[in-house]
Amino acid sequence: MKEKIKKITVDSTGTIREVLRAIDRGALGVALLVDPGSEKFVGLITDGDVRRALLKGLGLESSVSRIDHPETITATVDMGMDEISAMFSEPIRVVPVLDDERRVVDLAIFDTRVYFPVAEPKFGAAELRYVSECILTGWVSSAGKFVTRFEEQFSEFCETKFAVSSSSGTTALHLSLLALGIGPGDEVIVPSFTFISTANAVTFTGAKPVFVDSEPSTWNINPVEIKKAITTKTKAIIPVHVYGHPANMDPILDIAREYNLAVVEDAAEAHGALYKGKKVGSLGDMGMFSFYGNKIITTGEGGMIVTDNEDLAEKMRILRDHGMEPKRRYWHSVLGYNYRMTNIQAALGVAQMERIDQIIEQKRRNAALYAKGLQDILGITLPPEAVWAKNIYWLYSILIDEAEFGMSSKELGKQLKKRGIETRPLFPPVHQQPIYNTGQNLPVCEKLSRCGLSLPSSVNLNGDEIEKITNEIRNIQ
Ligand SMILES: Cc1ncc(COP(=O)(O)O)c(C=O)c1O
Repeated sequence: MKEKIKKITVDSTGTIREVLRAIDRGALGVALLVDPGSEKFVGLITDGDVRRALLKGLGLESSVSRIDHPETITATVDMGMDEISAMFSEPIRVVPVLDDERRVVDLAIFDTRVYFPVAEPKFGAAELRYVSECILTGWVSSAGKFVTRFEEQFSEFCETKFAVSSSSGTTALHLSLLALGIGPGDEVIVPSFTFISTANAVTFTGAKPVFVDSEPSTWNINPVEIKKAITTKTKAIIPVHVYGHPANMDPILDIAREYNLAVVEDAAEAHGALYKGKKVGSLGDMGMFSFYGNKIITTGEGGMIVTDNEDLAEKMRILRDHGMEPKRRYWHSVLGYNYRMTNIQAALGVAQMERIDQIIEQKRRNAALYAKGLQDILGITLPPEAVWAKNIYWLYSILIDEAEFGMSSKELGKQLKKRGIETRPLFPPVHQQPIYNTGQNLPVCEKLSRCGLSLPSSVNLNGDEIEKITNEIRNIQ
């Protein structure tokens, strides 16, 4: 607890930036102010107090003394648990415990979390500030400074020359295929083990998605199977970096070169994942990302395509904007779409990009905690991480061997739900979905789907909460 107190403590002469850093470090939503000389407790600042101060016009370098905050409720070391518990209410979840000298010696924390969702977004003061700016200035549609800023931040993050935002990951993928000129009569190779929209984007163009099985070692599209699926009609491959683990890109890129195929990476679930040290999305001709609410970062709905190819980037910019010629307004020489991202979405994106590295770090930290808690449980296979990969564990997903674990993944999901722990089955193979139903036999993805379960993967989870979840799994077995 001493360590925790230290993490969230700031001198009362400090700045708002220092308070925000302390709030972030402690993940309790509060910072403690102490007198720099005597270390006596001065007050408690919540993330809400900071948000209101920033909205009122204070800056990050303003003094913390300028933040308005209600009088802090504190406890003393001689109080009993019942007395301290009575101090908690909906807004009061952390009560500093003081010694006779008014120094903080303990924290009483009311952990109200009784429900653990599979995913949830994490927002802070910057999101509120930037979105408010859109509303206050009236720039709410797709013109506005945040769209360009978000695209610049994102291409820099992915180490690519260009980034083109769009209204969703699905529309981004559709744009990428349109820019490549893919259409009726063409085939595009996709993994069956993915979310439906990878295949649907191909279908939207009039081309045919051709489904391929996964590798058991990475859960991603199997390069050996890709080669078998190539025909004279094949125009492109869409490897998906599923659940945050990169696909094995070198063999895929070799095949693409050999057969002159385009490669569009579906990195909807893998922002920041690395393949041999390189960011996913930057390896193929284009890379697509989703910013849906459960993704690594979110803009509510939203998507992005990154590329080093200026011609493709330009085509996608035109196609997302009704096919309007860039130099002649209301002049349309191609059939385009309205797939633009709004300034409000991008404002969220800009704020989220300021914390993306922390989010990824937290995802990996939580994955390590899950691994520690689950590794010795019979019948559980942990998510993969190949030696050449940095998995960002979008959703921390495990496989359950029914015979060894003593229960199916579906039954485990039901049992966890009764305990307030949400889980989600892994994607049903797309080749078996009613709209495609190809009658293929793709055993690896069928098994992944049958045995897989995603566990709560929110970055808001702390170590104690992950321990609670892993203990529940152990007890259920
Ligand atoms: C693998 C994959 N591809 C594509 C998408 C589509 O993204 P969006 O929901 O933003 O349209 C998603 C996510 O939803 C996804 O998980």
